Amino acid sequence: MIYINEKNKEFHIQSKNASYIFNVMKNGQLGHLYYGEKIKHRESFSHFFKKPDKGIGIIAHLKEDSAFSLEYYKQEYPSYGTSDFRKPAIKILQENGSRITDFKFDSYKIIKGKKSLNGLPSTYMEEENEGYSLEIKLVDSLINCNLFLTYACFNNREVITRNARIENKGQEKLIIENFMSASIDFPDSDYNLLQLSGAWARERNIKIRSLEKGIQYIDSTRGASSAQQNPFVAITSKNTNEHNGEVFAFSLVYSGNFIAQVEVDHFDVSRLTMGINHFDFAWDLEPNTEFQSPELVMVYSNQGLNSMTNTFHDLFRERLVRGLWKYKERPILINNWEATYFDFDEDKLVEIASESAKLGFELFVLDDGWFGKRNDDTSSLGDWFVNKEKLPKGLEGLSDKLKNENIKLGLWFEPEMISENSKLFKEKPHWVLGVNNRNLSLGRNQYILDLTKVEVRDYLFEQISKNLLAGNISYVKWDMNRNMTEIPYKDTPHKYILGLYDLLERLTKAFPNVLFESCASGGGRFDPAMLYYMPQTWTSDNTDAIERLKIQYGTSLVYPLISMGAHVSAIPNHQTARICSLDTRNKVAFFGNFGYELDIRNYTIEEKNQVREYINFYKQNRNLFQFGNFIRLKSPFEGNNVAWLCVSKNKEEAILGYYEILAEVNSSYNKRIKLKNLDENTLYSINNSYEAYGDELMNVGIVFEQEKRYYSHHDDTLDFRGKIFKLVKVK
Ligand code: DGJ
Repeated sequence: MIYINEKNKEFHIQSKNASYIFNVMKNGQLGHLYYGEKIKHRESFSHFFKKPDKGIGIIAHLKEDSAFSLEYYKQEYPSYGTSDFRKPAIKILQENGSRITDFKFDSYKIIKGKKSLNGLPSTYMEEENEGYSLEIKLVDSLINCNLFLTYACFNNREVITRNARIENKGQEKLIIENFMSASIDFPDSDYNLLQLSGAWARERNIKIRSLEKGIQYIDSTRGASSAQQNPFVAITSKNTNEHNGEVFAFSLVYSGNFIAQVEVDHFDVSRLTMGINHFDFAWDLEPNTEFQSPELVMVYSNQGLNSMTNTFHDLFRERLVRGLWKYKERPILINNWEATYFDFDEDKLVEIASESAKLGFELFVLDDGWFGKRNDDTSSLGDWFVNKEKLPKGLEGLSDKLKNENIKLGLWFEPEMISENSKLFKEKPHWVLGVNNRNLSLGRNQYILDLTKVEVRDYLFEQISKNLLAGNISYVKWDMNRNMTEIPYKDTPHKYILGLYDLLERLTKAFPNVLFESCASGGGRFDPAMLYYMPQTWTSDNTDAIERLKIQYGTSLVYPLISMGAHVSAIPNHQTARICSLDTRNKVAFFGNFGYELDIRNYTIEEKNQVREYINFYKQNRNLFQFGNFIRLKSPFEGNNVAWLCVSKNKEEAILGYYEILAEVNSSYNKRIKLKNLDENTLYSINNSYEAYGDELMNVGIVFEQEKRYYSHHDDTLDFRGKIFKLVKVK
């Protein structure tokens, strides 16, 4: 629903449970009135707009009204320099040196459905009746610029998206120094800020802090959305938990430098701004050109974080991911990286693939090292032709053999990179991104190709296409292993990302049947924009099951399990040297996009039989894991036990995963897990061993009985245990 109070120029966007209200202020700019739990519409909300009585110190923006100071008003898209001292959403440098703008309301348009953005990924509506978009046009007549703020509201999802677009209709060149996707002023600061922070191999850990006076922000300056900070924040009530409380969540559909900032001012108003990072950013807005911000997805929940998660998961699965793989179950893959690293030849690969096929794997992924002269990570990136010493019959030969084994072939690329020790570098040194006459920093012995150049993108398109066709490749792992340094121009990071999107659009269009998985040393670019092109992401290079509990738990806040690559790897684990049972490793990887990454040839017959059973279990429940609702029940960030649950959309099936990190003896009775989201009147059978109604499972819970753990001999450690409970409707 959308209501417009024409007289007061108020806009009330009403989604399922939320209201979002803003107005045109006395000075013609947009003010913000309310975002929160749905409220009834009324003729006027002007009483929300309080006149300040703040004594001296007020700087009046309007001569005729000494109380009208932007500093004291909540705004919708604040600009720089005219009586608001907080951080703006827009700052534009003009030829005369001024950075002052004055965008006044001009008109509005309501459009059925949702338009796509030009050159940028975004969520979409398939049908016009799925929702509507409200486009507000604002004009700064002095510089002859139009600013469009667009709000798209999905009818059946708790989602509103926002983005901004600016058109230069004047004669002078303008320089955009700051252009946020959105800004919202919250009325007070009685909130927590939740973010997903981490590092390589420790991605997306949940961090929560109380909002404080001043500025708190997360950002990326690395040329990628980054493992350090995910382009996501949530502002929550102080008492919000997984199941209760208010959440305002913001996810930016962007893979480059971003910022998410909350400024709490001297009256405790909290201003959230989110968009492309303005640090080291500028964009020349030539006459008759436009600039568009990435899309910001806003999700509201009044039932805690799990409800927010379900909204994101459904939206990203159904209205972000595109093409063939949107509703398609994903293949169970085995990847050779941790099995062989660079040390392989065709025979070894075929042996692994053929063993894997017998156990039920559906896809064999050939990782790094198949091209150029790449036997370690010091060479050959850019030389995307097959290393005939390793694969004498090329990808064709390998793929033919795998076809006979009845397993598909997937292939690794790192297209955005170039090694100094490569043929490509010798031929095209000027394709490297950097600053002339300056030292170039090396990351994993490699440089970045300048994707802002169309000829570089054309070269990559051709090289990748050739290999995909030759090898009859059905899956691509698109890796990216270093961040950007020695950035030549202030617009380079954004232009680079636009170039990357252009290349991905071309490739995914040309190869609609190929499943793409993105990767950036694991989860260094796990963001919604990547999912738009590549519907799954390698979650982390850390494959240790216990470490994965935190990584997958944090990642799941925003990203659906189907998008999170999760592999069972060898023990001792290659990152932590931890030894976890095969059982636990499988039971953690099930709650993701399940696969393996180890040398299956070394397994005993008994182990292989176990692997076959785990694969069968996943296949039987794949739909539930990949398309069900995911609910977090017990957090690894808070204690020794972890629990999470997948429930099918029709609530007829569910799977609970429960993990004890360190073994406990004679532990207390609080090991009870109350399930959620079941049907209270359905009778479920639990692991075929007993039956209980949904209401009992949700209110009394499952009580874990501990096996006897004292005065007896154990061959293996009792640490790192996982249990799975399968619930099936009986009646
Ligand atoms: C980093 C990735 O995250 C790994 O999975 C693997 O593909 C290596 N790169 C290969 O170099």
